Order: sequence, then structure tokens, then C-alpha cells
Amino acid sequence: MTAISTQSVPVIAIDGPTASGKGTVAQRVADALGFHYLDSGALYRLVGLASLQAGISTDSEQNLVPIAEKLNVIFQGDRVILAGEDVTDAIRQETIGKRASEVAIHPGVRAALVGRQQAFRQAPGLVADGRDMASVIFKDAVTKIFLTASVEVRAERRYKQLIAKGFSANMSVLLQDLRDRDARDANRSSSPLKAVEGAHHLDTTSMTIDEAVNQVLDWYKAR
Ligand code: DC
Repeated sequence: MTAISTQSVPVIAIDGPTASGKGTVAQRVADALGFHYLDSGALYRLVGLASLQAGISTDSEQNLVPIAEKLNVIFQGDRVILAGEDVTDAIRQETIGKRASEVAIHPGVRAALVGRQQAFRQAPGLVADGRDMASVIFKDAVTKIFLTASVEVRAERRYKQLIAKGFSANMSVLLQDLRDRDARDANRSSSPLKAVEGAHHLDTTSMTIDEAVNQVLDWYKAR
């Protein structure tokens, strides 16, 4: 029997800034279609965490690349297991998010994670969220979405998420941190966050999750 090329497996790419709600929307779209889901930010967060545990600076590309290449990670349902340890909550901390955006500026780190991301492309389909899903990793995605929300609304959403997980949070620190991360993600030279030509723009500032999910599903069905 001939193996079906994964190139024919449809991908919905959802890119956008941090805390825009793209993860929740992407997961819900994947559930609705019975598709697989890739949270590519989790991989950068894992490099952020693993390098911290190894005492490696986020400036040191040459020491970070082997960490990215050898990440011993298993995605088990909604749990993330790194070298046998459940790090699902640990990688959601703000300190790790900040490290993720710092390690993500290095081209070598990004290159080391390409194959791992593309391996998620499995039948019947994939919904992938991140910064460069449409521009680099899945250039042939059938539906490309650029999902945004105002920085104030994103800070509020992140605040609620952190409190719900039992972490402490401060709104003005969060706002500044989001602004710093937006600037770092959008201005880096390697695969910066940007909307590709042909992407659907979805501003979720005053939308409910259901409305955003339905809009993505409509665009996918109308492709
Ligand atoms: O989506 P997130 O907040 O979990 O991502 C954390 C960081 O990882 C983000 O600030 C930049 C980086 N990232 C990236 O550079 N490329 C991606 N495809 C996903 C995340």
C-alpha cells in the first residue's frame, strides 16, 4: 500500500500575538473538525524551561540549539511531559513565556524545531497555532488566520488565566510584559510575527470564543 503524503493533509494555521486567545480558538476548532492540534508556543516554552533547568542563558544560541534538538517531550492529551516530569502548568508561567520569546529569536533554535512541528501534520487534518505557522512551517495551509485582540483585553485574559491556575498576577506588570513580548516577537529578524498575504484577519477584542471559533470554521468551509 502506498503511504498517503502528509502534504495532502489540510492545515489550518492560526498566528497571532501572545494571549490573543488563539490557543483556545485553535483547540476548539480542532475538536469541532476532529483534527489534531499543535500548540507550537509550547515547544519554545519547553526550550525556555529546559534551558533554565540546565542553567543556560537565553542569549547563548550555541547552548540552546542542542536543548531544542534533544527535547524529550511527550504530549499526552492536554498534559505536557518533559523528561518524565509533568510540566503542563510550569510552562504557562510568565517567567517561562518571557524566556520562550527570548530563545525564539535564535534562527538555530527555530530550525531545530521545524521537523517536530511538521510531524504533527497527520490525517484527517491539523490546526496549528503560533507566530510563523502560515509564513514558514505550513506555507501551504488551506486556511490562514491572523488572530489579534487589543493589548488591554489580552492582559485581562492572561490575568484571568493565571489567577485560575493559582499563580499570582499584577495587571500593570502583565501589560508591560505583553508589550515587550509583542515587540520582540514582531521585530526579530528570524520568522517575525506577521500576517501573510491572503490571511483572514480576526480581531477578537469584542468577540466571544464561540463567535471566533465559528468564524474560523466558516472560513475553512468556504475555502
Ligand atoms: O504562543 P505562546 O505565548 O505560548 O508563545 C511563547 C513564545 O514562543 C512567544 O513569545 C514567541 C515564541 N513562539 C515563536 O517564536 N514561534 C511560534 N510559532 C510560537 C511561539
